[in-house]
Amino acid sequence: MAFDIVPLIAGNWKMNGLRASLDEVTRLKDLLKTGAASYCSIAICPPATLLAAMSTQAAGSGIAVGGQDCHQAASGAHTGDISAAMLADAGARYVIVGHSERRADHGETDALVSAKASAAIEAGLIPIICVGESEAERKAGLAAKIVGGQLAASIPDAAADADFVVAYEPVWAIGTGLTPTSAEITAMHDNLRAQLAARFGKKGATIQLLYGGSLKPGNAREILAIENVNGGLVGGASLLANDFFAIISAA
Ligand code: PGA
Repeated sequence: MAFDIVPLIAGNWKMNGLRASLDEVTRLKDLLKTGAASYCSIAICPPATLLAAMSTQAAGSGIAVGGQDCHQAASGAHTGDISAAMLADAGARYVIVGHSERRADHGETDALVSAKASAAIEAGLIPIICVGESEAERKAGLAAKIVGGQLAASIPDAAADADFVVAYEPVWAIGTGLTPTSAEITAMHDNLRAQLAARFGKKGATIQLLYGGSLKPGNAREILAIENVNGGLVGGASLLANDFFAIISAA
């Protein structure tokens, strides 16, 4: 991990969590009081139903909250969708866009992800823009090409003057317990860093590059120590405060 970039550990609760789950945030706040993890930004992206309550609960704790998706339009006739401004109004600081589950379940394209990232920036949110190859793409030796293409097309030009985060999440590592080797993560993150630097100049060297996909207490120390890994996007292991805290401590 490069120490001039403050790492971000972001939890993605996906479609998990009822109001009772907010107890985990209370637990996490207690664990953070021990001061064991002060050099790190922390965020949790709960289901939208919990966002406002979690942001109230997390106020002053150093835990930011975020949405898991937003619509690309600012408002309008889009039944069931949520705008970036609504997330911000509920207390969000971040929003995940282009998660592979959105790309797969809802047919989201790079162009749509880019539009969503623009909407997030417009609303004052920090988009966490996700990219990652499938197992077949990796086996075919296409991982770098696919992910590079996603990166180029999923980041809007508006990002040049805004804060944004990139998360590399190999699809085959999400929720499977499988992870790439450290060498594979290093190679991918070095590519992403070079591509960001080529497009955004100096700013490209400061963008947080997260790794996601079966990041757990047991592998966090090794993965988060990689030079161009500036934190993680954590699914399953973010649901329990103890596990999430262990990953935060590793950072
Ligand atoms: P996982 O999910 O940590 O459960 O593999 C990561 C993600 O999808 O963001």
